[in-house]
Amino acid sequence: MEISENKQKLFSAVQPSGAITIGNYIGAIRNFAALQDRYDCIYAVADLHAITVRQDPAALRKNTLALLALFIACGIDPQKSVLFVQSHVPAHCELTWVLNTITYPGELSRMTQFKDKSARHADNVNMGLMDYPVLMVSDILLYQAACVPVGEDQKQHLELTRDLAVRFNNRYGPTFTVPEPYILKDSGARVMSLADPSRKMSKSDENANAFVTMTDDKDTIVRKFKRAVTDSGSEVRYDPAAKPGISNLLTIYHAFTGKSIADCEKEFAGKGYGDFKLAVGEAVADAVAPIRAEQARLLADKAYLQEVMKGGRERAARLAYRTLAKVYRKVGLYMGE
Ligand code: TYM
Repeated sequence: MEISENKQKLFSAVQPSGAITIGNYIGAIRNFAALQDRYDCIYAVADLHAITVRQDPAALRKNTLALLALFIACGIDPQKSVLFVQSHVPAHCELTWVLNTITYPGELSRMTQFKDKSARHADNVNMGLMDYPVLMVSDILLYQAACVPVGEDQKQHLELTRDLAVRFNNRYGPTFTVPEPYILKDSGARVMSLADPSRKMSKSDENANAFVTMTDDKDTIVRKFKRAVTDSGSEVRYDPAAKPGISNLLTIYHAFTGKSIADCEKEFAGKGYGDFKLAVGEAVADAVAPIRAEQARLLADKAYLQEVMKGGRERAARLAYRTLAKVYRKVGLYMGE
């Protein structure tokens, strides 16, 4: 199916920087498939973002293909949506250059994620890390996306996206759609670490027990949940301030079973943390297993994945270059008569 002119566009992307966690899944990827009917969706593997921190080149190549397969295994239909690898469409870098000329260094240096990553990678605070949000702005604006489904940690980047879109439009005339973030209202927008529920679950955590990945097997998942840090007391109750560990597990259980938080609390009334943690581990493992199996099946069919990549690249490039040509014209780059 071709991307139509009348449905609103939606863009999102995930970095192929290591295994994808259930935080990525709950906060973002899980919603991608469901949104395909309402919007014309464009989903990218953000490999250019990933290289802002050091990557092992062989692992990055492998993770790129694995993420593409995971997207499809999670229900993204490459016939319906545009699914592609960011570096395959050079317009992302080209628009970044132009947008850099209307971005102030202070806007980038005060970004929470830049500060966090600079502290974590003190030996590699590079210009790419600082410019990361502008590349993200370009991803979104190139496709005239009206909606951007992301987890809560991306909120600041989306505010910058809106600011730059408005700034450009004011300076050069209407060019970009100003996008709205689509962030879950419940706590699924910010899944916390299993080892320290005051921190976000992150695929780059040095402690592998802090996160569960979409490729972990059942034993590993159950073991990680058994070890999850919980709170004092013994009541399974949703109260993020007083019981951050248990509340996080309730969020995860709710996300993977579809049961309401209230029903989850009822289910474990009078039972201890041990029973609850085991049930969460089993529910996650059971939900992740078919996705993992489908991802593995797809990864065995390289020809199919290559075909998806090629098709996605062509469709994405067509949309992206339409916007880029407009931008170049507006800023006065001479495009011939
Ligand atoms: P990345 O790869 O870090 O994360 C992918 C998505 O997962 C969400 N997420 C979480 N949600 C809930 N709980 C968590 N613990 C958690 N950890 C991550 C993220 O918010 C994100 O939605 N910069 C982006 C990738 C990107 C992008 C874009 C997104 C590049 N270009 C354009 C939207 C639009 C990122 O770092 O994602």
